[in-house]
This record gives sequence, structure tokens and C-alpha cells, in this order.
Amino acid sequence: MSSAKIETIERFILENQPQSAQGDFTHLLYDIALAAKLIAHKMKRAGLGEILGQAGNVNVQGEEQQKLDIYADELLFQLNDHTGRLCALASEEREEMMEIPRPYQKGTYVLVYDPLDGSSNIDVNVSIGTIFGIYRYVDWETRGSLKDVLQRPRDLVAAGYILYGSSTMFVYSTGDGVHGFTLEPDVGEFLLSHPHMRFPSPPVYYSTNESYYEEWTPEAQEFYHWLQGRDAARDREYRPRLSSRYIGSLVADFHRNLLRGGIFMYPAEKSKPDGKIRLLYEAGPLAYLAEQAGGYASDGAKPIMDIKPTDLHQRVPCYIGNRSLVEKAELFLRGE
Ligand code: AHG
Ligand code: MN
Ligand code: MN
Repeated sequence: MSSAKIETIERFILENQPQSAQGDFTHLLYDIALAAKLIAHKMKRAGLGEILGQAGNVNVQGEEQQKLDIYADELLFQLNDHTGRLCALASEEREEMMEIPRPYQKGTYVLVYDPLDGSSNIDVNVSIGTIFGIYRYVDWETRGSLKDVLQRPRDLVAAGYILYGSSTMFVYSTGDGVHGFTLEPDVGEFLLSHPHMRFPSPPVYYSTNESYYEEWTPEAQEFYHWLQGRDAARDREYRPRLSSRYIGSLVADFHRNLLRGGIFMYPAEKSKPDGKIRLLYEAGPLAYLAEQAGGYASDGAKPIMDIKPTDLHQRVPCYIGNRSLVEKAELFLRGE
């Protein structure tokens, strides 16, 4: 920590919210920070007992649920269902959106989340994360409806992620830049360590699972060649020298690229035309953070920020990171 002024996440949120947003919104962010500490605490013990491994269920995505997926999912719901701040929630791990159980009061915000991102990395001690997005309600007539949940990422009022890595970090934005906090484990507080995060330029990394290369369109393959520096004839003016890094946890790949500069891509595939990344609680919140950090997220043709979901678990091809690289991807994908 270089700053002489020690800033906890609670104080930072309070000091940086306009008066109008204080109260419910501020407390909602505190609750998510509390969930982050509890999940990080649980995770530190992974490997010691009954925490690792599959839970024996398959989720709505057709994926094996891990015990930590379920723990994080239930914790986020239980911390938020009775506070009177939310009117609806949606999670990667649940088929339907969640209403606020009676007799609790409903509130004015909507929480969407991927409780544990990078599940395949849990059992092998590799960085994983949690992603969240917060919307304001749309439909006050009901106790939360799909209209509240299926909003464009551009309508988010806040988004963020928690990274469980060599340290635990809470990174979020409420539309005034992206700010990162590192958990001081002995004190149990998130302290401001990365104010005003921006993608550095020139970028240095590309991140993709190239084992799907044969499944990509020729245009996506061409773009990948360009990233590798194979296409010497094309665009001599701007051809960054990039290196490859792929973790397989979107949060961790995004975070590294945010700190070092780079692009993450999960293109459309022949058998999966929408790719793998989920719009509502993965691509959407990260697209919001990317724009707040001077970057950009695209489905290859248009900004992910402007895609209105029609389904809770809708997938979207995802190109996200430094604006220069993502715009270059769009050029290639248009066949230019
Ligand atoms: P989740 O664990 O929430 O299902 O998400 C996994 C996602 C994302 O984190 C990652 O970038 C991607 O899946 C990795 O997929 P591949 O194993 O196909 O590379
Ligand atoms: Mn995920
Ligand atoms: Mn997940």
C-alpha cells in the first residue's frame, strides 16, 4: 500500500456516493463486501475438509455444481433476501429469477451474480472469482419480475467482481471509474489499493482458449493470427507485441488484463453460435467495468453494453479489454 491515507471500502463507498444514493445502495455494496470476506474465508480452507469437489448436482447450464458454487450462491442470497434493499435476484446457479420471500419487504434494486466464476479451477487451487451487477427496478407493480432483471448492461448502476487469488480483491464501479481494494486478512477489511484502474497501453496480453480454434469462424481465426503477430502484411502501423495468458477463470483473466493491458476473447463457435460467456452476470458487469476503465467489450459486432437480454442465461460471444484491440476484433469479424 503506497498511499499514506488508509481507506477502507466502507469509508470509500460512503465518501464517494452522492447523498441521493446513500442508504440502501451503500448498504447493498457493504453486504456484497461481507459476502466476499465470508467466501474468501471459506475458500482458504478448501482442500482441508468437506469443501472441495462436486456437489453431485447439475445446474441449469448443464454443468456439474461444485460445493463452493452452492455455498457462494446461497450465501449471496441469504445475505440479501431480507434487507429490504432488493426486489429481485438472478444467479448463474438458479434456473429462475428469485423474488424476495414474504414477509420481507421488497426494495428498489436488482442483484445479478455469478457466485463462483472459474469453477473448474476450484479443486486445483487456481484463482477464481465472483461477479455481480446491480440494477434499479423497472416494474414496481410486482414483487420483482423478469423486466427488472433483463436490462441492458448500460443500465447497470454498479458492477464489480471479487477475485480470490494470491490475495482477495474487491473491484467495483458505480459509474465513477473502477476502484480496487485488497483484503487485509488479519484486520478483515478491504483497503483501497488500486484507485482509478485503467487498461494500460500498449496492451501486452491476449487470453483465449485456443483449443477451440477449429470451431471458430475464419474471421475469428484471422483475428487470432493477428494477435499472434502472424499477419505481418496487415496493419503495420499498429501491431502490438502480445504474449499469451489464459487462466480459464474469466474474472482472473479480466483482472490481469486490466492491470497489464490486453484482450480476453471467447468467440462464437460452429456448434455454440453464442459462445460460452453469459450476458447477464458475466459479460454484462465486466463490460460495464471495462468501459469505466477506458476499455471496451463487444460481441464481435456491437457493444455488449447495448444488448438487452431476452433470457436469464443467455450467452454471448465476448471480446473484452483494451479498446484498440477489441475494435480491431470487430474489424476482422466484419471481414475488413
Ligand atoms: P463458471 O465457472 O462460472 O461456469 O464460468 C466459467 C467460464 C469463465 O470463467 C471462463 O473464462 C470460461 O468458462 C472457461 O471456459 P473454457 O474451459 O471453455 O476455456
Ligand atoms: Mn462464470
Ligand atoms: Mn459460476
